[in-house]
Amino acid sequence: PGVSTVIAVDGPAAAGKTSTCLALAEIFGLRYLESGRTYRIIAFEALRREIPVDNAREVTGLCDDLIRESRSAGLLTSERYAPDKLRATPVNVAVSAVAKIADVRQRVTSLIRLWAKSQAQCVIEGRDIGTTIFPTAPVKFYLTATPEVRAMRRVRQERAGSYENVLEDVIRRDEADMSRAVSPLAAAEDAIRIDTSGLTLDQVVSRMSSACLNRGLEINR
Ligand code: CDP
Ligand code: CDP
Repeated sequence: PGVSTVIAVDGPAAAGKTSTCLALAEIFGLRYLESGRTYRIIAFEALRREIPVDNAREVTGLCDDLIRESRSAGLLTSERYAPDKLRATPVNVAVSAVAKIADVRQRVTSLIRLWAKSQAQCVIEGRDIGTTIFPTAPVKFYLTATPEVRAMRRVRQERAGSYENVLEDVIRRDEADMSRAVSPLAAAEDAIRIDTSGLTLDQVVSRMSSACLNRGLEINR
């Protein structure tokens, strides 16, 4: 069974991917997947087991263990990890290092494709969904906003850390994710780009849902 529809949503940290994807999932009756969570789980487990996050061989071994333990695509949706643990500062610092390992990306990519196959219609957010994982997705979005706006949003959202520290994390991850060799963060050529800096969440969701309707996606709930 092949997947019928994947909506791909990519962009840097705090561009609004999760919030808009949840809204689209609600409007169109789609299953939703946050792909960054899986990279965060791998980074979290590496830190917990004191595995150096830049050791490609060891982190890939860890990734294989986690996939085995959670029975394959179960890792993507595992409920074992509280969001605040996965979004803690040490994980923010380690995650881009884990995510640049080619063998780790290849495994996570396979899991996501496997998961999507079992869905009729889904919306998936990440960094490489429209470019690498589903290059033929019928609707792709690339959300951005200035680093300053994104840092301010994250400070308000998580109430953790100072604006300066959050801005530093946002800029550091932008650079790491955009400059890596494998599947760097980039907009697919056919992605609809939305600079959300001056827009409310509702305005972004309304642009995105109009684009989905224009591409023939039906409201299905
Ligand atoms: O929520 P936020 O945008 O801050 O981050 P996330 O989506 O949870 O992603 C965390 C990290 O995982 C990113 O900074 C990337 O290094 C990595 N990631 C990736 O490489 N590819 C994806 N498809 C998703 C996330
Ligand atoms: O998933 P990603 O890291 O791209 O961003 P998010 O967690 O969905 O959004 C970060 C915060 O920005 C949330 O609190 C949103 O409500 C807020 N926000 C937004 O996403 N889009 C706007 N246009 C304005 C605010």
